[in-house]
Amino acid sequence: MLVPPVLPAGSLRAVRQPRLDADGGLTLRPWRVGDAGTVRRAFECPEIQRWHLRRMADEVEARDWTARWPAGWAAETDASWAVLAEPTGEPVGQVGLREIRLDQASAELSYWVMPAARGRGVAVAAVRAVQVWAFDRLGLHRLDLRHSTANRASCRVADRLGYPVEGTLRRAWWHADGWHDVHLHARLRDEG
Ligand SMILES: CC(C)(COP(=O)(O)OP(=O)(O)OC[C@H]1O[C@@H](n2cnc3c(N)ncnc32)[C@H](O)[C@@H]1OP(=O)(O)O)[C@@H](O)C(=O)NCCC(=O)NCCS
Repeated sequence: MLVPPVLPAGSLRAVRQPRLDADGGLTLRPWRVGDAGTVRRAFECPEIQRWHLRRMADEVEARDWTARWPAGWAAETDASWAVLAEPTGEPVGQVGLREIRLDQASAELSYWVMPAARGRGVAVAAVRAVQVWAFDRLGLHRLDLRHSTANRASCRVADRLGYPVEGTLRRAWWHADGWHDVHLHARLRDEG
């Protein structure tokens, strides 16, 4: 390679996945197998199914989903946090990094919030906490945020977080109802 990696391989697996605090009394922590019931319920939501292209057939599948993340961290490709809310301390959402590229110092954001916890800033606060960690601790340079142009809520989350639209990827995602155009939003570390 003619260009050295921006962040060397091993930068992610060298650290433990941290717990993160977020505004609004939220805490982010790695998923546990014991969260499988909550994950299964989350994926009963039609919007989460629609935009994440899957459902959970049973508790075993939900348990497998909660158990997969340490492998993604070890491979330095994916990470996911459960978002816990007061007063119960139960998971109400998910924020993750996908397509992590240490050589390019970039990753893509993923998120969902359970229906009962929506509309009170959970997505914005939780994504911001992961963003701060990814930029300031891990040292990423760029975070992408992609959503179907039909997903107005996700577009609003991107706007609130200060991720400008860089363009529209035409018919880029295959969904249950056909091809969707996709907004590409992004934020750079030196944008704060
Ligand atoms: C998108 C999602 C994560 C938003 O979660 P949330 O915690 O309710 O979002 P927030 O409360 O942080 O709201 C952020 C902004 O989005 C707006 N918003 C939330 N739901 C909205 C909707 N259905 N339509 C339009 N705007 C919406 C809020 O009003 C807020 O903007 P404002 O502060 O200017 O009023 C949630 O609706 C969800 O899980 N949807 C299904 C899965 C999904 O779409 N994931 C993203 C895939 S790219």
